[in-house]
Amino acid sequence: MPRPLISIGLVLVALTLVPIGCIYRARHSVKGQPRIQVVYDMDNQYYYKAQSADDFFADGRSMRTPVDGTVARGDLRAGDPFFRGRVEGDTTFVTEFPVTVDQDLMHRGQERFQIFCAPCHGLSGNGNGVVNIRATALAEGTWTPPSDLVGQSVVDRPVGHIYNTITHGIRNMPSYKNQIDPRDRWAIVAYVRALQLSRNASLADVPADDRAALENLGTR
Ligand code: HEC
Repeated sequence: MPRPLISIGLVLVALTLVPIGCIYRARHSVKGQPRIQVVYDMDNQYYYKAQSADDFFADGRSMRTPVDGTVARGDLRAGDPFFRGRVEGDTTFVTEFPVTVDQDLMHRGQERFQIFCAPCHGLSGNGNGVVNIRATALAEGTWTPPSDLVGQSVVDRPVGHIYNTITHGIRNMPSYKNQIDPRDRWAIVAYVRALQLSRNASLADVPADDRAALENLGTR
């Protein structure tokens, strides 16, 4: 091979090492200056940290309350009974449903209950869902059994309390507010009430039109 070609080859090999060297240096050295910013405006903005003080406003606070007449868009949550399960402006739990309880709501509640609650509380609400059966079988000693929803203590709870339990969880039970929207929470509460009633109802409590269907069920 002619000598000039060999020299050119060597130079090219040496040049390929340059970017590798640059990257190595960039990764392993500390610069005193800020990094080079190609698009400057998005990186450097003047902003306030939440809750921080600032003397721009006379009261020294950087966080502002919305000006009068501000209109909430989609997240107003006005109405304590519906959104919090409590009497308006008070901490007492409501005892009446803030929604109309009809067949549609019941069906929705049954469906949502079976998705979100039955794994722990069981399809009949007695607290013995598959999760409980499995956890009991593992016998690890740390399991708190899900409450019996058709037992007297939950029967005695006002509907707002059960709603609040779904929203915020209670003791060892987690919150379901991110999975279940307020209307569906009420649907579930209505269905829990139906499960409770079904424990003590007699055939006479069933509307006449539906009795025949139930009687047929019994003989099957
Ligand atoms: C991951 C399991 C789990 C799921 C799912 C679950 N719960 Fe619970 N729930 C529990 C446990 C455990 C307790 C008892 C908590 C304790 O005593 O520490 C409980 C307690 C309760 C109570 C009794 C609270 C009281 O007043 O003392 C109610 C009512 C209840 N759950 C309703 C529901 C409803 C409605 C759903 C569905 C939206 C649901 N739970 C989903 C585990 C669960």
